[in-house]
Amino acid sequence: MDSLLANNLTLGYGDQTIIDSLDIQIPKGKVTVLIGGNGCGKSTLLRSLARLLKPKSGQVVLDSADISKMRTKEVAKKMAILPQSPTTPEGLSVYQLVKQGRYPYQSWSKRWSQEDEDAVNKALTDTNLTDLKERSVDSLSGGQRQRAWIAMTLAQDTDLLLLDEPTTYLDMTHQIDILDLLFDLNQDNGRTVVMVLHDINLACRYADHIVAVKDKTVYAQGKPEEVINCELMQHVFEMTCDVREDPIFGTPMCIPHGKGRCLIKQAQAEAQKYPQAPLQQRQTV
Ligand SMILES: Nc1ncnc2c1ncn2[C@@H]1O[C@H](COP(=O)(O)OP(=O)(O)OP(=O)(O)O)[C@@H](O)[C@H]1O
Ligand SMILES: [Mg+2]
Repeated sequence: MDSLLANNLTLGYGDQTIIDSLDIQIPKGKVTVLIGGNGCGKSTLLRSLARLLKPKSGQVVLDSADISKMRTKEVAKKMAILPQSPTTPEGLSVYQLVKQGRYPYQSWSKRWSQEDEDAVNKALTDTNLTDLKERSVDSLSGGQRQRAWIAMTLAQDTDLLLLDEPTTYLDMTHQIDILDLLFDLNQDNGRTVVMVLHDINLACRYADHIVAVKDKTVYAQGKPEEVINCELMQHVFEMTCDVREDPIFGTPMCIPHGKGRCLIKQAQAEAQKYPQAPLQQRQTV
């Protein structure tokens, strides 16, 4: 089983520092979810863990080796990444895209094998894409395309799976299908999953470990019930909410305050209580 950690990692673009001196250890064989506001550096961190972004300083260590010194195929046999909004090569069919996931196993001496074919077919079945496998990826809907990319990541058949917002574009059924699939891969095969999710309630249901990113570093990490509370939501997302217990899973469930329809309902209730008063007056009574 492959282990992944980062030591004193500083990341950025040009002169801008996005992540500053961050230490992190990804729990082996567990599901870790990165959370944090837009632009806080989650994708930057994930890309760096997958060696798609070179650190300004510090190092990422995969299986006791500095990842920057490893050969590309060696990394790709241990770790697969689904980036945020990947670009689809024009004209490629779903089958051809998913097939790309097998590239670490191909060489001049090792041609396409039955094992490769089986891995591609399994990934297509698991993501419910078998019927669409001949379709061109750029002709698919956003959600179908997202599933095709997830299938490519799964076909790589790695111990470590890094996924940046895998549920983007997916309807509720497919969101749960994909998260359940990742959960099964973790439970049945002991795969380590690291993913970015924006839905805190789903994050709490599926994560063993949550890492909240804020102010260029880790604000808090631990089990969902240890980490998710009103104070964290206020600091990390600048949002007031109630945190209750998920009635099905028993995990933390955030209910944002916001305005929503509550204010309209309140005003309507007031209007019924004081039918004669003008609306403005009723609202202030
Ligand atoms: N290639 C790039 N060049 C310059 N700046 C970048 C680049 N990629 C990201 N950034 C900046 O780095 C910061 C962190 O971006 P990142 O994509 O890591 O955020 P994020 O937490 O994943 O956000 P989101 O939730 O919106 O996906 C942002 O301010 C972003 O504008
Ligand atoms: Mg991102």
